[in-house]
Amino acid sequence: MIRGHGGNIYDLARNIGCTPTDITDMSNNTNPLGPIPELLEHLKENMSAVAVHPEVDAKRLVELFASHYRIGADRAIAGNGTTQFIFASPLALETKKSLIVGPTYADYSDACQMYKIDCEYVMAKESKLFQPDVEDIRGCLKDMDTVFICNPNNPTGNLIPRGDLVDLCETYPKTRFLIDESYLPFTKNYHETTMIQAGLSNLVVLQSFSKVFRIPGLRLGFLIASPKIIGQFRYFYQPWSVNSLAQVAGIFLLEHVLVDDTFIKETQAFIASEKRLLAGRLKAVSSLTLFPSMASFMLIKIKEHLNAAQLCSIMAQNRVLLRNCSNFKGLSDRFVRIALKSPEINARVADTFREIFA
Ligand SMILES: Cc1ncc(COP(=O)(O)O)c(C=O)c1O
Repeated sequence: MIRGHGGNIYDLARNIGCTPTDITDMSNNTNPLGPIPELLEHLKENMSAVAVHPEVDAKRLVELFASHYRIGADRAIAGNGTTQFIFASPLALETKKSLIVGPTYADYSDACQMYKIDCEYVMAKESKLFQPDVEDIRGCLKDMDTVFICNPNNPTGNLIPRGDLVDLCETYPKTRFLIDESYLPFTKNYHETTMIQAGLSNLVVLQSFSKVFRIPGLRLGFLIASPKIIGQFRYFYQPWSVNSLAQVAGIFLLEHVLVDDTFIKETQAFIASEKRLLAGRLKAVSSLTLFPSMASFMLIKIKEHLNAAQLCSIMAQNRVLLRNCSNFKGLSDRFVRIALKSPEINARVADTFREIFA
């Protein structure tokens, strides 16, 4: 099921008659500092990996991942992106009724709908800058067996503090909390805020390599949970879910890049500085409201003159793809999301915004 996705460079390229690489894709939330050149070099040298089957369950990769995060290897599983696990979760968790903390990424509700499972939303309020209210979440938990939380959230960039999430898990031990940390490595103090080591029996954590290492085309993501829940996901696991090159890449990243924090820290510093610069450049554009974000992207509200579709269409003529957020449940046709790119691109796009709203 593909319903809630947005920015598609292939469609836009077809529509305006150029190639996808001609488009500046500000709808894509991956790390502008990636992919790491040494990784690409390593992949080139290991192309012959495609000639043999990869390890059927990516065991070596999982062991390295677990050892990096100092958890048991029976607490992690690797997949074809975290998407594999989002769509397996209603089956693996035997979800009957789920709660989604929104407005958020559509795949959680799409996964539930795929299996005709009821899902309700608790929406963060615009008046609170979309920061989810933990008391509101508590108020909706009765009868819910599965809760989906994206932390930090796509598309708002808000982060629920770790202490609040631990508290929720401990207070509702019968409810499973799926915390999607795909964008958490972009936030400061990531190692202190991640739930990967929390070890709670009703907690499921997702970690994607697509975003922070900018390898979405390889498809690599991890699920971390209790050995019991891992067993439930294994039941629905397809052989060779992680392809040969994704395994080669994951092993390289764990053995050579994640051995220290350099790349992650550089990423966090770059994102924080570019967000500050962009906010500064757009401050004078009174038609726009920028929402504070902990992630690699920012939600923008267009207060007047244009709606999201019109703005996206004008930007598209400039070969810039924005994420029109009007199909996010809980947002309106006034919202777009912009992902940070190189300093030059960010400055150029901010200038285009200023010209459009001048
Ligand atoms: C919040 C969130 N989770 C998960 C995914 C899926 O990532 P992947 O399957 O590449 O790990 C995305 C992709 O955009 C996302 O935004």
